[in-house]
Amino acid sequence: MELLNSKVLITGGSGLVGKALTALLEMEGYQVYHLSRNKTAKSARQRFWDPNKGVLDAKDVEGFDVIVHLAGAPIAKKRWTASRKKNIIDSRVTSAQLLYNRIRKTQQKPKLLLSASGIGYYGCKTDNHLYVEGDPPGSDFLGRCCVQWEKSAQQFETLGITTCILRTGVVFSRDGGALKQLLPPINYGLGAPLGSGKQHVPWIHIDDLCQMYLHVIKNNLHGTFNAVAPTTLTNAELTQKIAQLLGKKLWLPNIPAFMLKLMLGEMANMILEGSAVSAQKIVETGFVFQYEKATPALLSSLFPN
Ligand SMILES: NC(=O)c1ccc[n+]([C@@H]2O[C@H](COP(=O)([O-])OP(=O)(O)OC[C@H]3O[C@@H](n4cnc5c(N)ncnc54)[C@H](OP(=O)(O)O)[C@@H]3O)[C@@H](O)[C@H]2O)c1
Repeated sequence: MELLNSKVLITGGSGLVGKALTALLEMEGYQVYHLSRNKTAKSARQRFWDPNKGVLDAKDVEGFDVIVHLAGAPIAKKRWTASRKKNIIDSRVTSAQLLYNRIRKTQQKPKLLLSASGIGYYGCKTDNHLYVEGDPPGSDFLGRCCVQWEKSAQQFETLGITTCILRTGVVFSRDGGALKQLLPPINYGLGAPLGSGKQHVPWIHIDDLCQMYLHVIKNNLHGTFNAVAPTTLTNAELTQKIAQLLGKKLWLPNIPAFMLKLMLGEMANMILEGSAVSAQKIVETGFVFQYEKATPALLSSLFPN
């Protein structure tokens, strides 16, 4: 079913992915609105909600064709204390629940709900398996978080709304995200692979991720898809490629895992472990990547025109 020129509501639309997706959708002729916790509206498209307090006006979710659920507290910003973990989960799940409760009562329900999820679904572990969508979730914090996040999206199916989940890898973008954190040490000559450096870093260029959301909307796709580039990249390869592109030398030995664990606690596993994730399922739906390989994706992210 073609959903062109329809109305799209994005939760967390002010973030890295949301901004880029809004620009693409508007260019394609969609009318885009945001749900934001920010009370001061920065544009006419912004609507207010406060998922923590259950605040969301029913009229602000009425009449949309597509909902994109991107809202969530940043996963890697603060140490994973018990309360931070609760915040990471609640900001995704409670917000989806609030949306569900309001949409349940609307006259005109959306046709499609898309939700972000993460490749953390498969658990932070390094093995030789190429993870596909049907694989079971990991039992660690991120695995459990993604299971709850995805369930909160899947419940929209009970309202007759097609639901699609994009399990997203590390987003390479010119405007921030994980790459921004990696650059300073390499720029100052203090860059080094983390731990063994052999862990995979499933990644995707922001332009491909936004095109993938558009592809799902245009084709009304249903189900779960890995949103990762079709080529693999290890942490050591990523560090070397960035250094090469910046014209810097890597001379330090790998940063030992125990040091990262001391600094970051449980969160260190997220960067010390990782397996390859397959893009085959989305490719089989006819999706074509602009950035299949890491070097051009990094070039475009590090040196935007
Ligand atoms: N970027 C990546 O590499 C990556 C990888 C895998 C998965 N993802 C997932 O994809 C989604 C979008 O990613 P992103 O990089 O665009 O994230 P982002 O830049 O951190 O933006 C997320 C948005 O969520 C809202 N938000 C933040 N804290 C919140 C809270 N406590 N409760 C409710 N809303 C909150 C904010 O919007 P307002 O302030 O306007 O409310 C924020 O702009 C996220 O769920 C993220 O976990 C991202």
